[in-house]
Amino acid sequence: MTTKVDQSSGLAAAAEARIDDLQRRYPTKAATLLHVLWEIQWQDGWISEDRMRYAAKRCGVPISKVLGVVSFYTMYRTKPVGRHHVQVCRNICCHIMGAAPLIEHIKAKIGVGEHEVSADGKWSFEEVECMAGCAWAPMMAINEAYHENLTPEKADRILGELV
Ligand code: FES
Repeated sequence: MTTKVDQSSGLAAAAEARIDDLQRRYPTKAATLLHVLWEIQWQDGWISEDRMRYAAKRCGVPISKVLGVVSFYTMYRTKPVGRHHVQVCRNICCHIMGAAPLIEHIKAKIGVGEHEVSADGKWSFEEVECMAGCAWAPMMAINEAYHENLTPEKADRILGELV
């Protein structure tokens, strides 16, 4: 299957259409900045400086505004990540439920450390603060999917199923 790309932005035509639709409905183009950045990250996996410049132009805001947003919200990535970006929560509930040894176990299993990407591009890893899965601690997210009530064995199973 091929994805149609908008030649002016390099984003998928479907992403451009979603942005157009939102910008028709929002009071200002600037109000769609978070969504535009999400569209970029969904497509590329991260947000490069070129893409930040594009988002600024698309939303009619200065590049400083975009930099402020991507540096404030930790869910925006400003460096490339692996195909499977593993985020493990280290905050209080997860910590109490064993996050620290789980983090070491997962890093050893996938062979990458904090903010590293594996040589084959398959994995990247990041410790994060609370992801609102506290009731099911400890938890991790792989890309956008949450995995909760983790044990080292359960984490192994989940990671082992990914290609
Ligand atoms: S403390 Fe880990 S999800 Fe909230």
